[in-house]
Amino acid sequence: MNAANELVLIRPDDWHVHLRDGDLLRAVADHTARVFARAIVMPNLKPPVTTVAAARAYRERILAAVDPALGFTPLMTAYLTDDIDPDEIARGHAEGVFTAAKLYPANATTNSAAGVTDIRRLDRVLERMQSIDMPLLVHGEVVDHTVDVFDREAVFIERVLAPTLARFPALRVVFEHITTRQAVEFVTAAGPNVGATITPHHLEINRNAMFEGGIRPHFYCLPLAKREAHRLALRRAATSGNPKFFLGTDSAPHRVADKESACGCAGIWNAPVAIESYARVFDEEGALDRLEGFASIHGPRFYGLPVNATRVRLVREPLAVPERYTFDAGEIVPFHAGRTLGWRYAGAVD
Ligand code: DOR
Ligand code: ZN
Repeated sequence: MNAANELVLIRPDDWHVHLRDGDLLRAVADHTARVFARAIVMPNLKPPVTTVAAARAYRERILAAVDPALGFTPLMTAYLTDDIDPDEIARGHAEGVFTAAKLYPANATTNSAAGVTDIRRLDRVLERMQSIDMPLLVHGEVVDHTVDVFDREAVFIERVLAPTLARFPALRVVFEHITTRQAVEFVTAAGPNVGATITPHHLEINRNAMFEGGIRPHFYCLPLAKREAHRLALRRAATSGNPKFFLGTDSAPHRVADKESACGCAGIWNAPVAIESYARVFDEEGALDRLEGFASIHGPRFYGLPVNATRVRLVREPLAVPERYTFDAGEIVPFHAGRTLGWRYAGAVD
């Protein structure tokens, strides 16, 4: 097979994923672990993961749910609340349990009710995290209902992120799942301690996808997909080779009934097609040679971790994506349901 029809990459990692818990965890975990060696696991469970003990127990449940042959390591995160104890966060980091801590502005998204009502409440925690170089992962949207939902990321930069970085200039920050040109520009201009993850869906869809011929709940996620100009800015950033931008799927499964509802949940389950979807984007942009940096190198460098020792292969072959997956936990519709993609994950290279 000639080189253009095959890609060999250092095994990638997913720097932002929702693995859920219980039967949903058992349903989805291997879809991430089949490709990704490590994943930063979001803590927005019910109840949220706010203690070292809870993170250890959750890590055990994840490892029990994953096929051990896949060689997967979950990297755990702490869910920040208004009254979280800086000592607990620092202890979790020192003990190798918390890789990072996650800021959810209260009520910004799924299971964020216990999140932070005012970033100033975190001053002591952020001071501590800055001093131990522990990454802060940010859901970057204001929750002010007078701000248009499509503007909440850009306004968050002005009102929260820029002032916070001015107060903690050495804080290591990942601006998660960025969706706007403003976020690309902010991260590009910031110091090397500021990076961003970009999802496959924000590279592939704009906001029209949610309304194509009717309401399309399976394209509803937060932050929302934005206008086409923003999608194009994200594609340029992801494929630029700039090490500040790296892979984070934000794969966020919800049962069909919870998506197809009068008040549907936000989240796109892209784990079964994530690396294939990124490959398609990089191919379309003429940047396949930069996929390995984005998927496998920039993330570990940012987190100060080694890159993975093994390699995986992608082949340019049709991949028919099922309309839905049926699990004991219920049915879940994947990203790209019913479509045929042009790249297929072909396993580890030995
Ligand atoms: O679309 C989303 N789904 N965005 C989030 O921030 C949370 C996630 C989830 O947990 O379902
Ligand atoms: Zn997320």
